[in-house]
Amino acid sequence: MTIDLAALPHDFLWGTATSAYQIEGAVAEDGRSPSIWDTFSHTPGKIDNDDHGDVACDHYHRWREDIALMRRLGTNAYRLSVAWPRVLPGGDGPVNAKGLAFYDELIDALLAAGITPSVTLYHWDLPQTLQDRGGWPERATAEHFAHYASVVAERLGDRVTQWTTLNEPLCSAWIGHLEGKMAPGLTDLTAAVRASYHLLLGHGLAASAIRAASPGAQVGIVNNLSTVHPASDRPEDLAAARRVDGHTNRWWLDPLHGRGFPEDMRKLYGVELPERAGDAETIAAPLDWLGLNYYFPATVADDPAGPAPHAREVRRPGVPRTGMDWEVDASGIETLLLRLTDEYGARRLYVTENGSAYPDVVRPDGTVDDPERRAYLESHLAACASAARKGAPLAGYFAWSLLDNFEWAYGYDKRFGLYHVDYETQVRTVKGSGRHYADIIRSHRE
Ligand code: IFM
Repeated sequence: MTIDLAALPHDFLWGTATSAYQIEGAVAEDGRSPSIWDTFSHTPGKIDNDDHGDVACDHYHRWREDIALMRRLGTNAYRLSVAWPRVLPGGDGPVNAKGLAFYDELIDALLAAGITPSVTLYHWDLPQTLQDRGGWPERATAEHFAHYASVVAERLGDRVTQWTTLNEPLCSAWIGHLEGKMAPGLTDLTAAVRASYHLLLGHGLAASAIRAASPGAQVGIVNNLSTVHPASDRPEDLAAARRVDGHTNRWWLDPLHGRGFPEDMRKLYGVELPERAGDAETIAAPLDWLGLNYYFPATVADDPAGPAPHAREVRRPGVPRTGMDWEVDASGIETLLLRLTDEYGARRLYVTENGSAYPDVVRPDGTVDDPERRAYLESHLAACASAARKGAPLAGYFAWSLLDNFEWAYGYDKRFGLYHVDYETQVRTVKGSGRHYADIIRSHRE
């Protein structure tokens, strides 16, 4: 398949993405304090195989080698996250100079390699000490987040222009506080709704803190969105699809765009929001860009007895699935990019994550062949290019992920990387999909 990438701009950011807890390891080094993910992953039974991020990809020590891997792909951008507990081990107390120095050096080396850093401030690793004080259900956490954002932006903002406040607040709020499958592992609707509110408030407060510290900053937020299809045309299933769209997409996008939290969902959750005068405007602070993480669509049926939003996933027969058991449907990424453009008026968009997990193995000849991931990458990039042809202002694509890494509750068995990681030896091996990505990038530049 040859992809027509002509609609993508010449200065398109071709990147890879990772996050701190998933790759860094070194959890007790140089003054880092535990995060909620250290606690959660060390709670027996929470993570497949009882895996944890103590060592992960040992990126904290191998980052120079990892930058060389990016260069081999020909990428010109890298999306990383800063670990809050490395920078402010007390959550809101004194700055840990060594923690900040790690990112400082990393940013310099990326720039020296011709790679634009895109820095995410929160990819789920809340300092445990703030969780002990109530975590995201408490307003103070949003305020502490803004302080942390200003500390990082003051230090890195002379070199970093691309800033993300939050990665996938849906996961922090819904999966972490309602479904209990991610840290902090709660199953409490009130806590989840309050967390969602304070995450978005934290985003708005942090956006202005970043801009104050670094006037040229380009600030955005990253949401994981899904296309939602009703399992049938029964009115009950149509209504269920509308609710899932509210839960997954509108609850996040509407307040960010000044439309407030959707009324239908407020009613459905039945939880009073901890609103104060001025919050709505803070949450809707203008965005320089919007990030889309897309992996799979959702097909849903009514499930009145189930938890909010009272819908259950339905398997569409014959649709291919990844190793995560997620449907492969590239049309979803195009639909969502166009929805963000047409319905929400996005002025600049990035696909900040997109990728697939398969059970890769290193063959005796030392190669890793992953035709399914290659096909996934190609079809999704073709859909991105198609969205750009139809007017979506797409400015970059970040493949998830540079490396196989700690896939949260699934541990290390689920491999998303363009490079395979042998966790015994920490040897990295480029996969066929990594080579293919490099070819695609090259073809766009020619
Ligand atoms: O690994 C995660 C990442 O941390 C957030 N987005 C989805 C990825 C794959 O599940």
